[in-house]
Amino acid sequence: MRKFTVPTAALAVCFMVATSHAGITTKINGKAPHDFGLQPWSNQQICLPCHTPHAAIVKDTNGAALTAAPLWNHTLSTATYTLYVDDSGNGVTGDVDQNSKLCLSCHDGTVAADSFGGKTGSNFLTGGIVGTDLSDDHPIGEAAIWPQTLDPTGNGGKGAWTGASYMVTPDLRSAAGIMPLRKMADGRLAVGCTSCHEPHNRKSTEHLLWVNNSGPAKTVDGRDVSGSALCMNCHKK
Ligand code: HEC
Ligand code: HEC
Ligand code: HEC
Ligand code: HEC
Repeated sequence: MRKFTVPTAALAVCFMVATSHAGITTKINGKAPHDFGLQPWSNQQICLPCHTPHAAIVKDTNGAALTAAPLWNHTLSTATYTLYVDDSGNGVTGDVDQNSKLCLSCHDGTVAADSFGGKTGSNFLTGGIVGTDLSDDHPIGEAAIWPQTLDPTGNGGKGAWTGASYMVTPDLRSAAGIMPLRKMADGRLAVGCTSCHEPHNRKSTEHLLWVNNSGPAKTVDGRDVSGSALCMNCHKK
């Protein structure tokens, strides 16, 4: 089903971009860093470096079905990543989630931004390269498996999150429609690039974040914070 429903949605949005009038604003369009229409290497298209209506990439580099984004068009990176090292010096081996690999297909700096649609390009990112060594970045993937689990029988059968009471439970972020955790291949939930960033600039924030991280805000669990609302939507500090 997915194959037929998602393309329609994607094409509908593309159509809106092509025909946008005052009053209809697609927020990726304009000055957003992912408005690739402004780039010399993009065929003056916004979506195409990431999505295509036809002949999309259907498998990831491990040969598994690519389900992290509809109709993916950007050449995937074959890099292996060094994951977060904790303060006792323990590094984590393992992988990042499939969705983050889509971001890293441009942002690890090994694949050109214009390597899409089966072509090998030559325009590498000049800013925003995260690299393949993620040991100095906020943990993602295997290094940030969500420390709570859902007990489906809890809360009178409605389900309840147990463990790590110092974290904000995922259901509160889901209810707010922001900051999804990402599934690892084995089904466990983890933090990924798109737990913090929203590539389409839906929220019109700095750095394509889901939530502004500067200034006062209310967290999804109702705390008033003076700043770092993005962090505080996961961490209770
Ligand atoms: C920088 C890469 C990138 C660009 C550019 C991009 N997308 Fe996406 N898109 C993604 C990723 C990654 C996902 C997977 C879900 C997520 O992480 O938000 C996605 C998901 C989607 C989805 C399905 C779910 C959702 O989040 O709505 C649609 C529809 C979609 N994109 C349409 C578009 C259209 C239309 C454009 C051009 C106006 C576009 N995208 C531009 C990366 C991109
Ligand atoms: C097709 C290549 C491509 C893909 C795929 C891609 N990006 Fe980008 N991204 C760019 C480019 C190009 C820029 C602008 C870089 C610059 O400033 O020179 C950028 C900029 C950014 C910025 C910087 C915004 C700012 O204002 O500082 C963030 C954050 C970002 N991307 C996150 C992501 C995330 C998260 C994903 C995956 C959902 C992703 N990108 C996927 C090409 C890509
Ligand atoms: C825990 C939340 C979080 C995660 C996970 C995360 N980021 Fe970020 N990212 C941020 C915040 C917050 C900023 C803004 C930093 C600042 O204000 O200096 C940022 C900034 C950026 C920038 C712009 C700054 C620069 O160096 O040019 C890029 C590009 C970026 N992130 C890409 C990524 C990619 C790719 C991933 C996944 C590999 C990722 N981020 C994962 C929170 C996150
Ligand atoms: C989407 C949820 C999420 C967001 C947003 C988030 N974190 Fe985290 N963070 C985690 C998870 C999960 C871990 C790994 C926790 C564990 O293993 O117990 C983690 C780990 C950390 C650690 C490492 C702890 C250690 O033991 O080494 C630090 C520090 C941290 N986060 C700070 C931040 C900051 C600062 C921000 C905002 C820029 C932020 N986090 C945003 C979920 C999140």
